Parts: sequence; C-alpha cells; structure tokens
Amino acid sequence: MERLTSPQEMQHWANEQRRAGRTVALVPTMGFFHQGHLKLMEYGRSRADRLVVSLFVNPLQFGPGEDFERYPRNEERDQDLARGAGVDVLFSPAPEDLYPVHFQTHVTVEKVTRGLCGASRPGHFRGVATVVAKLFNIVRPDAAVFGKKDYQQLMIIRNMVRELALPIEIVAGETRRAEDGLALSSRNGYLSAAERAEAPRLYRTLDTVRRRLRAGERDFARLEAEAVLELNAYSWVPQYVAVRRQADLQFPAAHDFGLVVLAAALLGSTRLIDNLEV
Ligand code: PAJ
Repeated sequence: MERLTSPQEMQHWANEQRRAGRTVALVPTMGFFHQGHLKLMEYGRSRADRLVVSLFVNPLQFGPGEDFERYPRNEERDQDLARGAGVDVLFSPAPEDLYPVHFQTHVTVEKVTRGLCGASRPGHFRGVATVVAKLFNIVRPDAAVFGKKDYQQLMIIRNMVRELALPIEIVAGETRRAEDGLALSSRNGYLSAAERAEAPRLYRTLDTVRRRLRAGERDFARLEAEAVLELNAYSWVPQYVAVRRQADLQFPAAHDFGLVVLAAALLGSTRLIDNLEV
C-alpha cells in the first residue's frame, strides 16, 4: 500500500492507472476506521482494479462549535487496517493542500440539502459536496462508495454526480451495526458507558416506526411525533425523526412506497444519526 499526501502525486498515480487500462474505486473517509468503513473498502475492492481510500478530516464540513478539533484520529491504526483491507493508496492530504488561502470555490447542492441534517448543520453539506467533488477530480475514480448510514449525504452525492455529469458510478453500502443495533460511527467513542448502553434506543425507535409503516400506518406526522416523545422520555434531545421518500428525501404521500425513516438526536453532548429503509 502506498501513502500519498500530495494531490499532484495522487493525480499522477491515478493517471498512470488509467493509462495502463485499470479501473479505480474511491472510498472517501475521515478516518478512525470501523467495520462500516472496512465494508465499504470491500465493496470498492470488488468494483475496480485498484482501490484508493482518502482520509481527510474536512474542516469545511464542520460548523463553529462542532467537533472538528476533537474528531477522533489514529492514522497509524488506520494505515494498518487499510493495508489489511487491500487498499492500494491511502490518500491523506493536509488541509492546506486542499484549501489554499483564498480558496473561494464551493459546490452547493440545493433542495436535498435543506431539511433533516441540513437544518441543524448549516454549511455542512456544502463542505461535503465541495470536498467530494475535489477528491473526485484528484482521483477521477470509475466508482466511489458511500454508506447509507449518512443517507442524506449519499443522496446529495448522487444528485451532484448526475447533475454535473461526472462519469462516476456511486455505490451504496449498507449500514454496519453493533450487535445491539447501534450504527457504527467514529463518534460513538464520545459516549460514556451509560450513554453507550442507552444509544441503541435510536435504532429501536426507528425500527418501531418501520414496523408500523410496514403494517400499513400512514399518519407520518403521528409516527414521527411518537418517536420524538419516546426519545424525549429517555432524555435524548431529538433534532428530527422524519419519514421521507427514498428517491428524493421529500415528504411522502400516503400511497408512496419506498420510504426511509431518518433521525438525528443528541445523547448528552453526542449527536447520533441513523436511518432505516422501509
Ligand atoms: P466518515 O464519517 O468517515 O464516513 C466515511 C464513509 O463511511 C461514508 O460514506 C459513511 O456513510 C460510511 N459509514 C459511516 N458509518 C458507517 C456504517 N456504520 N456502516 C456503513 N458505512 C458507514 O462521511 C464522511 O466521512 C465524510 O462526510 C466524507 C464523505 C468523507 C466527506 O468528508
């Protein structure tokens, strides 16, 4: 496995692969790998001749007061895990390599960034779309893999790729969970032991909504409100519980199928998100 930090070197490596007729898959990450990341790498491996994983804690997608400074980092461990996962290049640029002073170009995806996480994290998805577009231009992958854990992010990337006519296949990976249902996340390490024991309630609450939708309930507002009450009762601070259409994350009509139920909530000072397709 090679480790590259310079965008120019990364671009050069990718050009060489293309010249040799090899396809390349990219898995963008912010590191501190868990089984979810490793599963995406496995998808990437199977989709192309070569696999690039980017590791970049992207300052542009963190708001003021968010956890950019204390976001968990362990590059040595990540390097070992990536090597074990058959990664060909681990690309970890420095912030100043991607964002030189006076950087002033951003990618904004509009409608689908507005609600849900976009409502409580203004500027977040602009930061995500900008860095992913930039990584796409540096690596120019044939395929790129994203997790359904960040469902809105995945939709935003799909829109961006389609609307900017980027020749990249977007592959979606299922959410990996701990045995008790909690979706794996680099941020789970912020939880105290008591919070960690409480954390799977988010999944269970979404699962209850999913079961009721499957059973034919169609009063979405009521299902959402009851889920919020359930979380409130156990001292969570929910930001949203929302039933949406999978296709565009807009409000469903009663006859729509292909739904997804999504939630974000604070448990103590840790913000957790999760979702389930119905
Ligand atoms: P990060 O949170 O490191 O996640 C990297 C990728 O792993 C994302 O596509 C995310 O959806 C996926 N992922 C996270 N938890 C997962 C789980 N439990 N199961 C399956 N996949 C999971 O998402 C980002 O980084 C950044 O926003 C990024 C896209 C890299 C842009 O900076």
